[in-house]
Amino acid sequence: MRPLRSLRQFWSLREMRRQFASSGARVAASACIYGWRGIKLGAKTTIYSQATLACSYLDFQDAPDMHPAGSISLGKRCTVLNGALLATYGGEIIIGDDVSFNPGVIVYGHGGVRIGNGTRIAARTLIIPANHAFLSPDIPIMCQGLTCRGISVGRDVWMGAHVVVLDGVTIGDGCVVGAGAVITKSLPPFSIAAGVPAKIIGKRGQLSEPQIRMDADGEISTMASENRKNDS
Ligand SMILES: CC(C)(COP(=O)(O)OP(=O)(O)OC[C@H]1O[C@@H](n2cnc3c(N)ncnc32)[C@H](O)[C@@H]1OP(=O)(O)O)[C@@H](O)C(=O)NCCC(=O)NCCS
Repeated sequence: MRPLRSLRQFWSLREMRRQFASSGARVAASACIYGWRGIKLGAKTTIYSQATLACSYLDFQDAPDMHPAGSISLGKRCTVLNGALLATYGGEIIIGDDVSFNPGVIVYGHGGVRIGNGTRIAARTLIIPANHAFLSPDIPIMCQGLTCRGISVGRDVWMGAHVVVLDGVTIGDGCVVGAGAVITKSLPPFSIAAGVPAKIIGKRGQLSEPQIRMDADGEISTMASENRKNDS
């Protein structure tokens, strides 16, 4: 039994590497991949060492070729850095192009997660689209099931370190979320939010003077880089 299983795993791993290589993605040899048939990676997307992609409930993750429960799709040029974890828990995780998951980010898929193009997610942020049901005090919480509504994050969002995004939330395009925030309610596009629970502390585009400029050639300069130029 054992040699047969390892032979099957060997072929499965070969098939997995072929599939990812043919899409132009790069997956470190020490990345942990479970249920690879449920995973799609776009060109130039990189999964770094010790990052985990699991199309499963984490406690079922005993084989890379396990039958997938849910799916993960990452667009082009995404990065999943060391120690980041994307696990479907039976749901769909759909990520656009140019999205980065910094070390220690955790995204679960239960009720579904969508993240738009260009969004940056800093270290140890958690995106968890599920809650334990707990209404009855007479039944153990672990026996009351889950509620799952799903989370949607727009494009060009920046989430600082240690943010927690709760189930049912939509974060609009262009939002900035401060370090340590707990997002309990949806945020309209271009909000700047911070705190626990997160409150809107500003709106992008409402600064007293523009901090970023684009010249006629499309060259982008910041106030800081212009000040440095003027000083020299
Ligand atoms: C939110 C953030 C982007 C700054 O936004 P900003 O619009 O420049 O905000 P300001 O610094 O002017 O602060 C505005 C107010 O919000 C508060 N605030 C700013 N960041 C906060 C945070 N993370 N949590 C709670 N309050 C915060 C400030 O104390 C200030 O409060 P006050 O008006 O009572 O003094 C920044 O503070 C932040 O959290 N950055 C994330 C850094 C990070 O995690 N980097 C990871 C590397 S990718």
